[in-house]
This record gives sequence, C-alpha cells and structure tokens, in this order.
Amino acid sequence: MTTQELRQLLSELSLEEKIGQLVQMPAYFQSGGHITGPAGEMGITNDDLRLAGSYLSIVGAADVEKLQREYMANHPHHIPLIFMADIINGYRTVFPIPLAQGCTFQPELAEEGARIAAKEAAASGVHVTFSPMADLVRDARWGRVMESTGEDKYLNGLMAAAMVRGYQGADLKEKGRIAACLKHFAGYGAPEGGRDYNTVELSPRTLREDYLPAYQAAIDAGCEMVMTSFNTLDRVPSTANRWLMRDILRGEMGFDSVLISDWGAVMELIPHGVAADFAQAAELAIRAGVDMDMSSPCYTHELKRLVEEGKVPEALIDESCWRVLALKNRLGLFENPFRDLSRDDEAALLLCAEHRAAAQRCAENSFVLLKNDDQALPLASDAKVAFIGPYVDSHLTSGAWSIFCDDTDAITLRTALRQRGVPDERFAVGCPIVAPGETILGFQKDYPLPEIDAEQALADAVALAKSSDQVVLALGEHREHTGESASRGQIALPDCQLRLLDAVAEVNPNITVVLYCGRPMDLRALQDKAKAILVVWMPGTEGGPAIARTLYGDCAPSGRLSMAFPWCVAQLPMHYDQLSTGRPYHGDHRAIRISSKYLDMPNRPLYPFGFGLTYTTFAYSGVALSADKLTRGGEITASVRVTNTGDRPGTETVQLYLRDLVGSVARPVRELKGFRRVTLRPGESADVAFAITEEQLRFYDINMDFVSEPGGFEVFIGPDSASENKATFRLV
Ligand code: NOJ
Repeated sequence: MTTQELRQLLSELSLEEKIGQLVQMPAYFQSGGHITGPAGEMGITNDDLRLAGSYLSIVGAADVEKLQREYMANHPHHIPLIFMADIINGYRTVFPIPLAQGCTFQPELAEEGARIAAKEAAASGVHVTFSPMADLVRDARWGRVMESTGEDKYLNGLMAAAMVRGYQGADLKEKGRIAACLKHFAGYGAPEGGRDYNTVELSPRTLREDYLPAYQAAIDAGCEMVMTSFNTLDRVPSTANRWLMRDILRGEMGFDSVLISDWGAVMELIPHGVAADFAQAAELAIRAGVDMDMSSPCYTHELKRLVEEGKVPEALIDESCWRVLALKNRLGLFENPFRDLSRDDEAALLLCAEHRAAAQRCAENSFVLLKNDDQALPLASDAKVAFIGPYVDSHLTSGAWSIFCDDTDAITLRTALRQRGVPDERFAVGCPIVAPGETILGFQKDYPLPEIDAEQALADAVALAKSSDQVVLALGEHREHTGESASRGQIALPDCQLRLLDAVAEVNPNITVVLYCGRPMDLRALQDKAKAILVVWMPGTEGGPAIARTLYGDCAPSGRLSMAFPWCVAQLPMHYDQLSTGRPYHGDHRAIRISSKYLDMPNRPLYPFGFGLTYTTFAYSGVALSADKLTRGGEITASVRVTNTGDRPGTETVQLYLRDLVGSVARPVRELKGFRRVTLRPGESADVAFAITEEQLRFYDINMDFVSEPGGFEVFIGPDSASENKATFRLV
C-alpha cells in the first residue's frame, strides 16, 4: 500500500477498530471460540478477539493460514493479523542459547542463526520474533542470563545488531525474513539480587553508559519493534514510563516503530502500585507511548471509554494504530497476508541438513574449555573412556526458549558417540538431573522426573568408571532451572550430581566434566576433581555431535566466556568493567587490611570474562603502539605478535581493552573495545593490530556530556579481561 492508501485506511477505521490494532492476544485465547482459563479470568470475550490485530505464539502454516483467512473475512476492513512468537535461538532447528552464542565472539554466527530461524519461522507463518534480548547481565542468579549474550555492552551490541540483520535482512518483504523485536527496554537484566521481575536501580549515568548501548546498536541496525521491560526504573515501571519511552527511546535513541508491552505488563501496573485499575493502567501505558498491549484486557476494554470520556486524546490512538499499520505494510501483509507460510516449505526447511549443519557449527564455536590439565582433552581415539552422567541421555539441551521444537529432535551425547563407534557398555547415567522424584515446574509443562533406582545407578556408574582409563562426566543444571522465572539463590550443581562426581573421583581421577548450563555456575566442587572442564551451555539440536567432535579433537574449543564464572554466588553481581574504588585490592589476600575485598573469598571470579582455552597454547609479545600520543581526529595502532606455541593448530581470540586513568568521574578498570580471532598452525605467528581513535574514549562526563577527556590511557591486549599485557598513551 502507498502511504496515502494507508492513511486513508486509518481514517476509515472506527475508534474500536483502531484500538483492535493495538491488542495482541496469546494463542490459548483462541480455543475454538470458547474462552476459558486465564482468558476468561481476564474477562476477554470472543468479541475482543474479533478485532484484535495480532496473535502471539500461534505457529504452523496450516493453523496460521486458517486463522488469517477467517479473521480477515470477518474483519470490517479485512486488515490482516500480524503473528508474533518467541523465536529465540532457533525455531525447529535449535541453535545454542544466546549466552553461548555470545561466547563465539563471532557476530556472523549469531547472524546466520537468526537468518535460519527466520527462514524456518516464516514458513510457519511467523511475522515478528521477540528477539534479540540485548539486556546487559551481571548476576548469574538471574535465570534469564541465558537469553542475553553476556556481561559486556560492546559485545552485546555487536551480537544484537547481527541478530537484527539476520532476522530482517535488507528488505523485510524478502522471502524468509521476519521483523525483530528488541527487548526488554530497559534495564531488565539488572534486577536486585538477580531475582526475576525485581526492582532495578540504575544511576542515569550507568543506564546510559552501560545498559543503553546494546539496545541502541539493535535500533541502529533497523530493529522493527521494541518491547517494554517488566521492571521499574527509578520506581517507574517501564510500561508506564513516559520519559523512558518518549524522551529516551524515541527522542534520543531514534526509535520510531512499534513499542509493545511485555506479557501482561500493562495490567501489572496495578500490582506495581502505580495504577488503581485496568483503566488507569491503560491510560498510563498509552500516554507513555506503548503502542500494543500484549496479553492483557486493558487496551481492549478500557481505551474506548477513556477516549470517549476525554481522558485519552484520540490522537494517541491514531499515532499507535498508524505505527502498527505501517509495520504490517512494511511486512507486505496487505498485498500478501499469508506471506511465506507454506506447508511445502515447512517440510523442506525445518530441520533440513543445511540448518542442522549451521547449528552444529555454532555449537562447536560456543564451547568454552575452562581447564585442561595434563591435556586430558582431546580424548585419544584408543582410550577406554566411560561416559557417565544424566546428560549422556538427555534431550533437554535446547534451552528454556525452545518452545516450538520437539525436544527429541536434539541428538543426545550417547547417540552421537554411538555413531562414532563407542560401544553401548561405555555409558552410564549415574543419577537424574535433579533429585529423584523431584518435579520441575515448567512454563509449558511439568517434568516429573523418572523414578530411578538411585543406588543402583550410582553403583553401575562407579563400576564403569573403575574399569576405564578416563571418565567424561556429562553434568549440568536442568533446562527449567534457567530462563524466565528461574532465578536461583544457589548456582551449584544439584547434590545428586555432586554425589556422583565424588563417587567417581574416588575410583578414577581422570575426569573431564562436560557442563550443560544456562548460566555461569559455582564450580568449586568440581574445580579440583576435574582435570578438564568443557562448558557446552545448552547447545541445541546438534549438541551431541558437536560435543563428540570436540571431545575427540575433530574440532577444538574456541569459545570465550561472555560472562564470568564467579568464584561463588556471594560475589554477585560482578562484572570485569567495574570501578577501581578508593581502596582497590591488589595482590595477596592478607597483605593489606584496608582494601575493597572479602575476608573469606577472592575478589576475582573463578574464570574471568573473555577466558577460554583450546587444545594448543599461545604466547603474546608486549603491546606495541604506533605513537604514544593520540590526537582528536587521529588514530594510533596498538599491536601484538601472537604465536602458537603448542603442537596443534588453534584459534585465539585476541582482545583489546582500554582504561582511562583519570576522568572527571571514576572510570572502569578496563573496557572491551575490540577483538580479533586468529587461527594459527603450530609455531606460526601473526601480528594483530587494532586502531584506537578518540571516539572509543568517550563517556558520560561529570556534566553528563558524552565526550573524551585528555590524559593518560592504558591499552591491554591479551587472551582475556584479566591480562596485564599493556602499554600507555596520552590523548592530547
Ligand atoms: C514474557 C517475556 O518476558 C518476554 O521475553 C517474551 O517475549 C514474552 N513473555 C512473550 O512470550
């Protein structure tokens, strides 16, 4: 449609029809015309569904086509529905969770994953995905760290932008593209105590300098939608926050498309205590600029009356309705309301070999090797290895958001290793993922865990370990212990798995732990008992083959931690780009009494941001600078020579960090400003150079101006955020 035709359409809509465009209903409200459950409790009626312009979580070419056809036939102006869904790390072919994708340090892999997810989802009728999540995360207790790409704003920005490009491409109308919805605006990743939905307190400077940049990167990449966050910011819930949405998001950050609430967030303004009833909640949200109300009765039931009573100007409804219609138009829905949905394409694309290969590639690049004493890995092809643990047979390896996949599509570790010829008698489950008999309450379903004979399972595992040269223990947290509403106060492995580890360690010290997790965990109980630790996160459909190939050295781990593994939970929240404090702690634990430290644990994490080993080793030269003075508008080069000092080829992720030594406000001890992956043969060297410009030195100064300040800077180039390999220069 031309803009003029679209304007004409808007002008022909009744108030009720315009409000309909602002309403999104979840799939289960469509229960054959009979409204039950939460829909009924919210007072949603069939009449509300008649005009609601969008659905959430209805997927599948056949269902979407039928619903679209019926809806349009009944709609007074035949406006098509827009279908949205959470396609987070894949649709049917599942990629590693976003936190793992962050560990690849390869935005191009995230882009490819998003492109494939979009292609599959588009064939199933999806128009918009609620991804990427660009929330900065610093507390591993928060279950949703798995949906973030980590603790670094620069890396998160690159990843979020890459995902937007992957979903949307250059033209939304192109086949296989879907619109991206950035979330959760803003600061959702900083709930107090890591408890989901909890209060967020961020100073204006921290909000702007640390939390907004990754959202900005996604907006700059052309992201079509934004979702509000559940939390308050300075005590104002985002969904009612006019300053945040109108001044910052639209005014300063330049976002001009559709803003949707999170699920039920408009009606949650009532328990937040800023609205007395649905009507006040609707008024606050629409005034804040929230265009669409996801899964709540507020807009559909209240807006019309609010306009008629003069409490909400109709112009606000028109403004929001226009944005929704314009998005539908950019998606080409008026010309082709069925877009790419196709049962044939579903059959050809979902889980096709090309998509599975890409998922496997991404998984292999996301694994992080934390420890590898005595070169425990890779496994020798003739070693007698026991594969033990609950994740040997688990299909629950696709992460908490894999809601449209069939779990059994994920290839287990046993299946992958069996295909490589490992005999069946080399496997033992040892224990369940959580205590036998415990029921895990999931979002979609519950997981009553099989009752197993725990003593027998343990005894079988110990006997197998005893008769083996080496043991690979496949351990981890349950998928439903991560994700939304899955914050945890303790982030260690369940007791039954630690009991298995202890029992195995007593009979065989050659242990490699393969760790499945959705967050950095407390590894103290493993650290000394395992010779090698390979973090595989929630690796997705092709996790089994990717792990098998890595264990046997067909490929080498090259992932780097996008979020530190803390020493223990009491250090949280933590992030490497912290401030120095007035009494910084350096060196030995007991040496200096009056410094910022714990008496009973280190300050440092167990494994820092950026850390990861591989099957070879690298040496770094000192940092060479092309000049020791940088001028505005100029550029200096910082470089190192990196040499593969081991006897296998390998890939190193060389990282550049900068520190501003004196500022008008305290500056972080270092910040990531660049990284480069280099692959080197044994003995081979490469020079890795980074350009440094004045723009990279800017920050919010004492007056809240985004500027750089002349003075001294440190440049660190090394393998992780703890590297002390550095040089200094001055900005003049
Ligand atoms: C709530 C979650 O916070 C959000 O991330 C998700 O996209 C919506 N539900 C829709 O499922």
